[in-house]
Order: sequence, then C-alpha cells, then structure tokens
Amino acid sequence: MTANASAAAAAAPKVNPNAPTEETVLSVEHYTDRLFRFRITRPQSFRFRTGEFVMIGLPREDGKPLLRAYSIASPAWDEELEFYSIKVPDGPLTSRLQSIQPGDKVLLGKKPTGTLVLDALTPGKRLYMFSTGTGFAPFASLVRDPDTYERYDEVIVTHTCRDVDELTYSRNLVNDLVNDPLVGEMVEGKLRLYTSTTRETSDCMSRITTLIESGKLFADLGVPKLDPTTDRAMICGSMEMIQDVKALMIANGLTEGSNAAPAEFVIEKAFAG
Ligand code: A2P
Repeated sequence: MTANASAAAAAAPKVNPNAPTEETVLSVEHYTDRLFRFRITRPQSFRFRTGEFVMIGLPREDGKPLLRAYSIASPAWDEELEFYSIKVPDGPLTSRLQSIQPGDKVLLGKKPTGTLVLDALTPGKRLYMFSTGTGFAPFASLVRDPDTYERYDEVIVTHTCRDVDELTYSRNLVNDLVNDPLVGEMVEGKLRLYTSTTRETSDCMSRITTLIESGKLFADLGVPKLDPTTDRAMICGSMEMIQDVKALMIANGLTEGSNAAPAEFVIEKAFAG
C-alpha cells in the first residue's frame, strides 16, 4: 500500500458489521399509561427463533445508541417485528420510546438470542408459559407459532398483572387467534389463557405462585398437578417472580434446561427500563 492509500484507509469510517440497523415504526398501540406495543419493519436478513429477544433502541446525541433487550412478541414467520413494552417515566429508553409514532426510526440489534425457545425443552405433552407483566411478550410470539402446537397436545399460558386493563394485550391476542389463518385451527381446544390480577378486583385475584402452590390453577383448568414426565414450562417475569416460580418447578421435580442442555423448564427475565 502506498502512503496515500494507507492514509485514505485510515481516514475511512469504520463500518461495524454488528451495528444495529435503522428500522421504521409501522404502528403503535397504547393499552394503559404503563403499557404499549409497537411494530417495526423487519430486515430480510433478520433471522430469529420464536421466543428470543433482541436489542432495541434509539439514537443519542452523543452518537452512542441507547439500547435495551426486548423480547420479540411476533413469531418468526411474521414479515414485521412486534414488541410489547412497559413505560417507565424516568427509564432512559422507555421514557423516550413511549412517544414514537409511525414513520419514526428505531434501532434494531443484529443478534437475537434467548432461552424461551421450544428447542430448549425436552419433548412433553403439556406446555405451560407462566408470565407476569410484560413477561407475556415472548409468549405472544410462541402462541402464534404453529411449531408450538405441533410439539404439544395442550398449551396453557398464564398471565398475572396488577390491574385488569394490563391484561388487554394478552386477552385480545389469544381471543383473536382463532381467526388467524395460520394457527387458527391448531389453537382450538389446545390453547388456554389463564389470567389473574393482584391489585384490582377480578374473577381471579392471586399471584401465580399462590395459584400453583394451592393447586387452584390445576383445579380450575381441570388438569393434573405438575408432572415432569408430561409437563414442560417457560417462565418470564420479574427476577423475583422467576425465582419463586422456578423454586416451585424444582419442588415438583422439573429440571431447568438451556439451549445447550434441553430439559423440563426454562426461564428469562422480562426486560424493562
Ligand atoms: P403484586 O401486585 O402482588 O406485586 P409488576 O407490574 O410489578 O411487574 O408485577 C406484575 C405482577 O407480578 C403483579 O401481579 C405482581 O403481584 C406479580 N408478582 C410480583 N412479584 C412476584 C413474585 N415474586 N411471584 C409471583 N408474582 C409476583
């Protein structure tokens, strides 16, 4: 290389192959003053497994992007990407992200990853997905994937929130699934959503941990108690919720799995910030 050529190479901007891509916001829906969902364009090269998470963010004035992990709420076959988010008033990202509008740009990381994937579980008959708050997001992806119904005879999603309005996203999504051209027929008789609240009066007022411990969950659903030979579970919520539900899985004889060593249940923290 001549001196001139090497000077030119040194001056050229460095292209980071892992840098996030800039995507366009397609729609935004607000559910409560704490919760909203948004859909963005999906680059053709963006591949992920249903249930995984990815970094999402916004540019900052100092040039360094502000990124946080988000579970992808849409299934792997969808042409768009959907996210379900909390709004934290003083959260560095969500305080700004909550005001995005269609046409705005958001940053999308290139490396989706995660453990709430069907391949991290050994085969079973009944799949439980236990969620609280925005922990429902990865399950919004999994309940829309035909693979979930091909692998399990029965799929039970639980969603517990503080208030009734916070259940709108999961309830609408699951109700509408019977009309879905891809999984509509598969969900009938196979998929059940079990909801509860903890701070506002509703038909079922209880934490999921209490519902499991008391056996009310199983009695209400008309299914046997947890059994490691037939039952598999995915858990997503706050760190405390995960630890408490995980302890109940272990107490019932289920073993924690991972991508490298599939087993009977898997966990992931619901992201916020
Ligand atoms: P609670 O109202 O009794 O705290 P959040 O909105 O704070 O993420 O909480 C979502 C839901 O998760 C709430 O209904 C909350 O109940 C519940 N929750 C919080 N901690 C736990 C836990 N350790 N085990 C089970 N559920 C929990």
